[in-house]
Amino acid sequence: MLSGIQPTSGSFHLGNYLGAVRQWVDLQTANDAFYMVVDLHAITVPQDPVTLRQNTRISAAQLLGAGLDPEHCTLFVQSHVPEHAQLAWVMNCLTGFGEASRMTQFKDKSSRYGAESTTVGLFTYPILQIADILLYQADAVPVGEDQRQHVEITRDIAERFNSRYTPTFTIPKPYILKETAKIMDLQDPGIKMSKSASSPKGLVSLLDEPKVSAKKFKSAVTDTDTVVSYDEERKPGVSNLLRIHSALSGQSVEQLVAHFEGKMYGALKTELAELFTEWVAPFQERTSTFLDDPAELDRVLAIGAEKARAVASETLATVYDRIGFLPAA
Ligand code: TYM
Repeated sequence: MLSGIQPTSGSFHLGNYLGAVRQWVDLQTANDAFYMVVDLHAITVPQDPVTLRQNTRISAAQLLGAGLDPEHCTLFVQSHVPEHAQLAWVMNCLTGFGEASRMTQFKDKSSRYGAESTTVGLFTYPILQIADILLYQADAVPVGEDQRQHVEITRDIAERFNSRYTPTFTIPKPYILKETAKIMDLQDPGIKMSKSASSPKGLVSLLDEPKVSAKKFKSAVTDTDTVVSYDEERKPGVSNLLRIHSALSGQSVEQLVAHFEGKMYGALKTELAELFTEWVAPFQERTSTFLDDPAELDRVLAIGAEKARAVASETLATVYDRIGFLPAA
């Protein structure tokens, strides 16, 4: 297993947790799992140095707070393992310009920043992600739906390398849970929950005061009907709330629809706000324990980086050899 998360805005949001991080925790014991905070990816858009460093620690602390256990998985910071940038160069040279141009996340982001502020790094972002995944010979990549295309291009490039040289890379599969693959914005259920949404009211940040998030659940956009039922097309807001409830409570959507029969949307929203608060309060407490001891946090990350490098350097050495680079004497 291999996956990564950007440290861009400090606090993770509920989509990050339900779409990805929760699966990372569930998969860490039965698998050889590598999880990282992708600071190299973060600088594809401007970052303030002090904030970036701080957000990298905050991100690692949240991953531990969510339940990652360094005894069971390898948790590290991407820039601590230089092989990511090194393999990315090789992957740059295997990826077609047209192929990279078809990445929808790049198209979305570059249109938001405008041509002048769009960096070449943002364009080659998916290629660094290819390197991330292939360095660890990952079988599966637990992510949300928005990352599917990046895992798919990884498969294409791995196959290209394997056939051009000799079989070297495992072909990875995306690991995407249907129910939580795309958590929607609470104010605009037509778009995914994301830091870049226009209104912060639709975004549930895990490090916000639980009261603030409870209020966001209570004022979530639903529809003019009042019946709690699941219909993604016609009732996207209610369906999103039902999926979030189901993920947090462990009850199926069918059970929830039966449970809310004869009740109004308000009941669903209030229950969801309570459920979220019950989960997030201990998460915040655990996260702040890790943040209160940055020396210990850095030590955990240093051990993770060492474990990651042991694997990554071996893959890179094989790749360099297969490509025909002269070994350094
Ligand atoms: P990032 O930092 O944008 O998001 C981290 C994870 O959260 C998932 N996610 C969501 N899932 C469900 N609903 C949502 N609304 C939602 N929003 C975000 C994302 O799908 C992701 O799994 N490019 C990656 C980071 C990365 C990576 C990798 C991932 C770098 N290298 C290698 C996997 C493997 C990204 O920007 O994720």
